[in-house]
Amino acid sequence: SITFQKIKMKRMPFILLALTMFVCLSAKAQAQSSIPQVEALLEKMTIEEKIGQLNLLTPGGGVATGSVVSENVEAKIKAGNVGGLFGVAGPDKVRMAQKIAVEQTRLGIPLLIGSDVIHGYKTTFPLPLGLAATWDMELINRTAQVAAKEATADGINWNFSPMVDISRDPRWGRISEGAGEDPFLGSAIARAMVTGYQQDDLTRPNTMIATVKHFALYGAAEGGRDYNSVDMGRVKMFNDYLPPYKAAIDAGVASVMSSFNDIDGVPATGNKWLLTDLLRDKWGFKGFVVSDYTSLNEMIAHGLGNLQAVSAQALNAGLDMDMVGEGFLTTLKKSLDEGKVTEDEITQACRRILEAKYKLGLFEDPYRYNDETRPEKDILSKDNRALAREAARKSFVLLKNENNTLPLKKDAKIALVGPLADSQNNMLGTWSPTGDTKYAVPILEGFKNVAAGAKITYAKGANISNDKAFAEKINVFGPRIEIDERTPETMLKEALEAAKKADVVVAVAGEATEMTGEASSMTSISIPESQKMLIRALAKTGKPVVLVLMSGRPLTIEEEMGLPVSILQVWHPGVEAGNAIADVVFGNYNPSGKITASWPRNVGQIPVYHSMKNTGRPELKKEWEKFKSSYLDVDNSPLIPFGFGLSYTTFEYSDIKVDHSEITQDQPVNISVTVKNTGNYDGEEVVQLYLHDVVRSITPPKRTLKGFQKVMINKGERKTITLTLTPDDLKFYNGNLDFIAEPGVFEVYVGGNSDAQLKTQFTLK
Ligand code: NOJ
Repeated sequence: SITFQKIKMKRMPFILLALTMFVCLSAKAQAQSSIPQVEALLEKMTIEEKIGQLNLLTPGGGVATGSVVSENVEAKIKAGNVGGLFGVAGPDKVRMAQKIAVEQTRLGIPLLIGSDVIHGYKTTFPLPLGLAATWDMELINRTAQVAAKEATADGINWNFSPMVDISRDPRWGRISEGAGEDPFLGSAIARAMVTGYQQDDLTRPNTMIATVKHFALYGAAEGGRDYNSVDMGRVKMFNDYLPPYKAAIDAGVASVMSSFNDIDGVPATGNKWLLTDLLRDKWGFKGFVVSDYTSLNEMIAHGLGNLQAVSAQALNAGLDMDMVGEGFLTTLKKSLDEGKVTEDEITQACRRILEAKYKLGLFEDPYRYNDETRPEKDILSKDNRALAREAARKSFVLLKNENNTLPLKKDAKIALVGPLADSQNNMLGTWSPTGDTKYAVPILEGFKNVAAGAKITYAKGANISNDKAFAEKINVFGPRIEIDERTPETMLKEALEAAKKADVVVAVAGEATEMTGEASSMTSISIPESQKMLIRALAKTGKPVVLVLMSGRPLTIEEEMGLPVSILQVWHPGVEAGNAIADVVFGNYNPSGKITASWPRNVGQIPVYHSMKNTGRPELKKEWEKFKSSYLDVDNSPLIPFGFGLSYTTFEYSDIKVDHSEITQDQPVNISVTVKNTGNYDGEEVVQLYLHDVVRSITPPKRTLKGFQKVMINKGERKTITLTLTPDDLKFYNGNLDFIAEPGVFEVYVGGNSDAQLKTQFTLK
């Protein structure tokens, strides 16, 4: 054995050498693109040309989506210093830009043309938090397909959507842009959107690259203040916040956008753990990563050094493309000369961008998205608008139907009041830079379209806000809050007079569109006082009152829920707003939306969400007890629970059954329940399943969404719904971040919202 060992020792260096060579070669092989054309092009490129591809610019001119715009864009394209543009639209304009890149640069590499197509292109759909409230994945997928069809008709090939940031903080304005508080629903929506935009073939002229954003955890900004720091433990991150990004990646999303916030003290844009260890090494992401708007430069303000230092850090971390900042463009060559970055890193980033262009078919035909005949037939078509109307009415959530006031008769005498009742500028919602308010149907018009026989008196009744300084901040993209010349008293009087003559009052109130969205955080999320006064006064008239509530976030409406009024939450419904609202108000469509972020009782309760934990001192009784985890002044429960939404009919749940009382680790389990429509209208119900893992190594949530199905049930009809829990649905990330299921009892609740009481259980062996 000694001889043997000697031989082994002697051979060791050779074996090591061979092994090292093998590892190096395979690493090189791995870095090479599987697309030979891309490798051939890379061979020809100078280092300057490679760096140029990492640069994304916006020439400005359209609706601004950031505070700076790029200068001398044309000259930069000619110099080979630009890999892509955004904020440019129209087949002719895009063709012009593309022509410069293709005909006037040494290698003729076409441009990526990006855009923020967040909830529709010109056919604006309800804002994403509203779309989520439909719980209809097939519908959401169709809206993304239409968005892609319209955007590509206008020359765009790369979309900065979906935004999948989980948020449990309605103070954060951008909660409107995502799916709400829940990772299970958020993941389903992420898949639906990515596959809608990209379908299964990016070379088709009606599909575009999707970007999952903002990676990562942007929705957990401290205090709900935009761009703020995020501090979160890994267990929470992996279980609650990361799943939707991962779902998008598993669905094949071709690009990822890094977020503005820092994570564990390192801004996402320069965070190697996030962009390389997790995203590429653990999750296997193969596409390219773009920064957010100047988020690379913002690392200077974060306190990480000068532009050269932060640019090198971002490239080292795994960022491929710099949006607007020009940090890569202006410093990477110097960093290369000084040994702070490597040529391989630059080549690799460039390779990923070229691969994206190749996948889009741009090398084959750079003008693939520049067919001048398309906009006319593909944009704002009748079918697209019909889908916008369908999506909008399905997104509305009936929060309260006092004395079954709704639906209204089509020949009713109606006082239509409120500052949002005839406000075309506020229908599309935030993040609709590609939309145009002039195509939006205001509510007054929608009422006339749907109920021509109704006698409608309109009165504005109040300003959205009386605060001029506040209004100025909201009006950056054009008038949203228009303060009337009349006094609040005069306006109120007019509304009350209209109410007196009517059978029913419909008051449209809430937020102007830009009161949510980017850089629109608020510490008070109630209906503005000017409108509260109007609602109070109307409620006192004794007339039935329907409050049509618009917002891009959960609001604190404890007072309004206590008034004798019905409340229909309509978000910002998009281009077909008025028609869709009228469809629901007059009963052409029975509302079926359910909220996807809990509505708090007050701001002090935030965060409040359905998957909170028990704590060691749960509040078990209804009455207050000392030394329990509770508040002195309000209940622990939210004002409106996650998953809640009423219908014009009623649904009764019974007969919950589990098909196996004991299962193994690789076995799915089916839960069935009977749902009966016990009211007077046909209607859709979102059947929801919540799971509670009773004992496990990481404190479990009290319950958490693990299944849902939207079903149509006619009046009097009874349906058996079966929801399947897959082995993965029982898993969670434990303290070692292993994704596992632990044996033991699982309780299951099924019902129409997260307070569901119908219960069964099974045991995992
Ligand atoms: C900043 C936003 O955070 C991001 O969502 C958007 O895509 C970019 N601006 C580009 O407009």
